[in-house]
Amino acid sequence: MWRKIFGGKEASVPTGDDLPSRSPVLCGDGLPRHIAVVMDGNGRWAQAQGRSRSAGHEAGARTLKRIVRAASDMGIEVLTVYAFSTENWKRPQLEVDFLLNLFDSFLQKEIDEMHAEHVRIRFIGRRDRFTDRFLRRMTDAEVRTAENTGIRLNVAVNYGGQDEILRAVQTLAARAAAGEIAPPEIDEALFSRTLDTADDPPVDLFIRTSGDLRLSNFLLWQSAYAELYFTETHWPDFTAEELARAITDFAGRSRRFGGLSEED
Ligand code: FPP
Repeated sequence: MWRKIFGGKEASVPTGDDLPSRSPVLCGDGLPRHIAVVMDGNGRWAQAQGRSRSAGHEAGARTLKRIVRAASDMGIEVLTVYAFSTENWKRPQLEVDFLLNLFDSFLQKEIDEMHAEHVRIRFIGRRDRFTDRFLRRMTDAEVRTAENTGIRLNVAVNYGGQDEILRAVQTLAARAAAGEIAPPEIDEALFSRTLDTADDPPVDLFIRTSGDLRLSNFLLWQSAYAELYFTETHWPDFTAEELARAITDFAGRSRRFGGLSEED
């Protein structure tokens, strides 16, 4: 499957056959099911080239398109990307407006192709600060691609992990107050299903580009046992080959989920 992407040109890139095999009990078939990406470094990438931050975000959007396709070709089930956080509203209004317009035009331009490639799109995060036009665009994309069977692309916009957890708590508290559920019924499975990522498997591999070593309030519940991969590469320069390296790195790790590995 990996040969399909790299066409055998990149000798250093492993194929599926070359991936270290992992314990079937602990690790499934070697591929992460769910990858989360903090797409950081658009601004620094642009600055390094003497270009505007906007140019960096545009380049970031082109990278996103390539990475969705690569992840899909590699057989990844879910890709969740951090496009705009609940804290990003603090940026200069011009940059906020630019980013929201970029998301809108990205959807407009790319939706046909993504749909044709069977991508299922979903937006996660709060929906209370967007224009009606963007809200319609998001809903249309979700409805149009809802039955697709390919990779699931979650785009986090106006998203914060703590905010998502609090919204789930409020939903469950309201259901308990209405007598629909009893508090002891609130277990990890029900809580997970109440989050924006309901029905998705937990994050296996959490990637952050551009050198910072933090989670930045992204998928806090879902990443409880995620393997972390940090790279200095700025997001616009992130490639399918580097995604493959991250996955190979992941495949070589021993995931114990608090238990013991077979060797212990
Ligand atoms: C972080 O880099 C990036 C963002 C806040 C925006 C992410 C947006 C994209 C990758 C554009 C494409 C997305 C979609 C959904 C079309 P930064 O601006 O914080 O960079 P810096 O830390 O170097 O300043």
